[in-house]
Amino acid sequence: MLSIEQRTSHSGQDYLDQANLSEVKGSPNQSLLPLTATVNNCDHLEVGGCDIQTLVKQFGSPLYVLDEVTLRTACHQYREAFKTYYAGTSQVIYASKAWSCLGIVNIVASEGLGFDVVSGGELHTTVKALEMMNWSREKIAQNLYFHGNNKSQEELKIAIDIGCTIIVDNWLELEILVKLAEQNPALTIPILLRLTPGIECHTHEYIRTGHLDSKFGFDPNQLDRLFTYVSQQQSLDCRGLHAHIGSQIFERQPHEDLGSVMVEWLKKAQNYGLKCQELNIGGGLGIRYVESDDPPSIEQWVKTVSEAVMKACEANQLPYPKLIAEPGRSLVGSACITAYTIGSRKEIPDLRTYIAIDGGMSDNPRPITYQSQYCVVVANRLSAPYSETVTIAGKHCESGDILIKDIKLPLTQPGDILVVMATGAYNHSMASNYNRLPRPAAVLVNNGEANLILQRETYDDLISQDRLPQRLLSYSS
Ligand code: LLP
Repeated sequence: MLSIEQRTSHSGQDYLDQANLSEVKGSPNQSLLPLTATVNNCDHLEVGGCDIQTLVKQFGSPLYVLDEVTLRTACHQYREAFKTYYAGTSQVIYASKAWSCLGIVNIVASEGLGFDVVSGGELHTTVKALEMMNWSREKIAQNLYFHGNNKSQEELKIAIDIGCTIIVDNWLELEILVKLAEQNPALTIPILLRLTPGIECHTHEYIRTGHLDSKFGFDPNQLDRLFTYVSQQQSLDCRGLHAHIGSQIFERQPHEDLGSVMVEWLKKAQNYGLKCQELNIGGGLGIRYVESDDPPSIEQWVKTVSEAVMKACEANQLPYPKLIAEPGRSLVGSACITAYTIGSRKEIPDLRTYIAIDGGMSDNPRPITYQSQYCVVVANRLSAPYSETVTIAGKHCESGDILIKDIKLPLTQPGDILVVMATGAYNHSMASNYNRLPRPAAVLVNNGEANLILQRETYDDLISQDRLPQRLLSYSS
């Protein structure tokens, strides 16, 4: 297959051709555009059967456009792959930090996935959405895992009340849980223990969590003390172990290593009398943001982790544990695009041409935070040939607010619609109101229908939490 860089004709249409090649259409995380992306008779980009320019007219700009088919396909592929490759029971839970809102929880839950949450806010969102789907308390508890390296007492009390599994990160948390349980002797709290696996992987240092110098999880050098302590606590039901090595990972070896390391720890825990029948291997599978990214497919990743765990179990003569994976990015990342409206242009002769859009680091903080790269197309002139190299600037008062540096585009005009690909994971969830920009709306598209899942913030929303002490008004009059 020719990469876009290798082709002689360069236009946004090339991305469509790429997305429509069956080889890459298979696994959503390998596709730059959502799986339903196509070009219509007006030479416009369509996703989920909806013309992106029309969506912007209807819902405003910038706009997150989430493709239901792509999200459902990714969920389905994870579940099916575990059924195919793992001989024990398995559970896929969505790392809601990637993007948590009622609509997404609903879709993911309806595909049979559970959830990992990392804060009272994510917990609240998830439980509310599941209650709206009439899930019973038991079903919610069984499908919910609560993470975090500094959970508050208040958050822990809510989690205990819901009955979800708490993934304990540190000694203080263990002590708090034991104390809270003392107030109710009938209570046993289901927990997993999060361990730092000490496995290196190649990804941005901010999103690496598995190496020993990490703020997350228990130090594996303290396993004896940890397992002894936990085995003495009647109130704690230690169901298993957890580890996560990082995010946006393309190599398969670190996850293979993780499987075998964790099985050995599991055996050790069982030797201390802990029941420990669950192994949660975290998430981390990367997605394609630019042409040169080459992540394994969902199926390949699941096969790797499943085989590693089964092989290690056989070597250690352990029955297969319940295997849990908690992907975030590879479920939702490729399912969404962000549509912006092009505005001003600044040409600096012999240096650079800037094209500004109506959003930026507030709706996509990933470039400024991790130097992340993205691909774009002009949604309303897809087959126009690339004719210039430009830099896409956000509208924030910050020189570093550059979404993409030096990319090829056709000649654009103010009002054209620029689409940035693969913005479903950690874009809205990390969005801010910097410079008091209202956060954009998000629409769910499927089969020609578009429904709001997040309403655009208004200027009044921006001041809705502001409080003005009365005395300030009296001074000013
Ligand atoms: N489980 C745990 C314990 C995690 O910390 C994470 C991500 C995941 C699962 C899901 O990982 P994923 O499958 O999405 O790679 N804001 C960063 C990513 C931070 C990831 C944090 N933890 C970014 O925009 O790249």
